Amino acid sequence: MAIEIGRYTGEWDELLELLDMVFAAAWSGDQYEAERGVWEHERSIAATDNGQLVGHTGAFSHRMTVPGAQVPVAGVTMVGVRATHRRRGILRDLMRKQLTDIHEAGNEPLAALTASEPVIYPRFGYGLASEHYSVAVPRQSRALWPVAGIDDVQLRQVDVHESVARCAELRNKLAADRPGMFQHDERWQQYAIRDNVTMDPSGASKLRCVVAERDGELTGYTYYRTKRVDTNCVEVDRLHAADLASHAALWRYLLDQDLMRETRFDKLAVDDPLLDLVLDPRALGRRTWDGVWVRPVDVGRALAARTYARDIDVVFEIRDDFLPWNAGKWHLTGGSDGAQCESTDRAADLTLDVRDLGAVYLGRPGLARLGRAGLVDEHTAGALAAVGEAFSTTRLPILDTGF
Ligand SMILES: CC(C)(COP(=O)(O)OP(=O)(O)OC[C@H]1O[C@@H](n2cnc3c(N)ncnc32)[C@H](O)[C@@H]1OP(=O)(O)O)[C@@H](O)C(=O)NCCC(=O)NCCS
Repeated sequence: MAIEIGRYTGEWDELLELLDMVFAAAWSGDQYEAERGVWEHERSIAATDNGQLVGHTGAFSHRMTVPGAQVPVAGVTMVGVRATHRRRGILRDLMRKQLTDIHEAGNEPLAALTASEPVIYPRFGYGLASEHYSVAVPRQSRALWPVAGIDDVQLRQVDVHESVARCAELRNKLAADRPGMFQHDERWQQYAIRDNVTMDPSGASKLRCVVAERDGELTGYTYYRTKRVDTNCVEVDRLHAADLASHAALWRYLLDQDLMRETRFDKLAVDDPLLDLVLDPRALGRRTWDGVWVRPVDVGRALAARTYARDIDVVFEIRDDFLPWNAGKWHLTGGSDGAQCESTDRAADLTLDVRDLGAVYLGRPGLARLGRAGLVDEHTAGALAAVGEAFSTTRLPILDTGF
């Protein structure tokens, strides 16, 4: 069997047939239309077998927030291999071609993705860089601690389509300070308000939008649906707010809807104020999910692209079996204003896999934790703690828009 890997030159409908097959027809027609709207044809890579499309990977050109900066990031997407051709190394070849292309283009120091199954991507150098909670709050557990100024916030139901640009402007402003979030251009603004986003849209209302305002100024918004099948519930799609009072006012609204028995949100940030505002934290019934996976494509450029919480001067020895240009020793110096990183012959302070560098890159706490798990070797006493502190961020990373 001669599998060819190369740029995908076919049409959307042919790709759609493959995606529908590999994802076991998980999405609705509306969802596929939304995917077509953001698809970047020229970034699609195909595996073909005698002309038949048997595998695919694509990428979105994201501008993602990393600590202290926004950088171009390849958002890897639409990955699949036809069931008749699995476990013969086609994904591996697609991943290698894609990451090599990104490296050669020289524009994106990082690749990122969301995984259908967490076990797939670590072998290609992706590390888990953000987590979030899925919560379901029963209506009787909606009580929140008092929040100053909450009653000065006005809530108003608005048309989702008419308000999309205004809401996106606020979201993009907040995203610029929050590692893991990427800027929504017009295409992604439309994607964010697509219909039937859930795998099982049955019985759900159309997307609704409520904005929070103070003196006419937009201070927050939420998109949500209500559902009256099985458990009557509010399904929160997203919530962004510029201040605590607006944040709490929107949550108070969402937790207290007539006819609804509970309120669900599957992308609550792990440092969301709601966690401390509810009187009964157990009622959240939270479950942790993996968010964005990050792969340093060019270790030196990736490490130089972010800032650090404290001055840092460290030599990393990086293991990278998949992209050999990253393997070796890298000298990183910098601090809160910027950083430099060069390949070096100096002795290493820490040795780790490129996957684990991706895992801590956005500020998810963990270098010390990874060390305790035996995943980081410390050659210089104290380096693990000092570097872990330098990598930390005041806001934890979150991915609010799956891709
Ligand atoms: C996941 C998928 C793309 C893998 O494609 P593939 O061509 O079979 O993968 P490969 O043969 O290149 O596998 C490479 C390695 O990953 C492993 N692997 C691949 N998919 C895996 C899975 N779902 N679970 C566990 N291991 C997996 C293989 O065993 C192999 O391991 P090895 O390096 O130890 O030999 C394919 O199974 C698929 O399309 N699944 C459904 C859609 C999907 O989940 N896509 C991913 C979206 S994020």
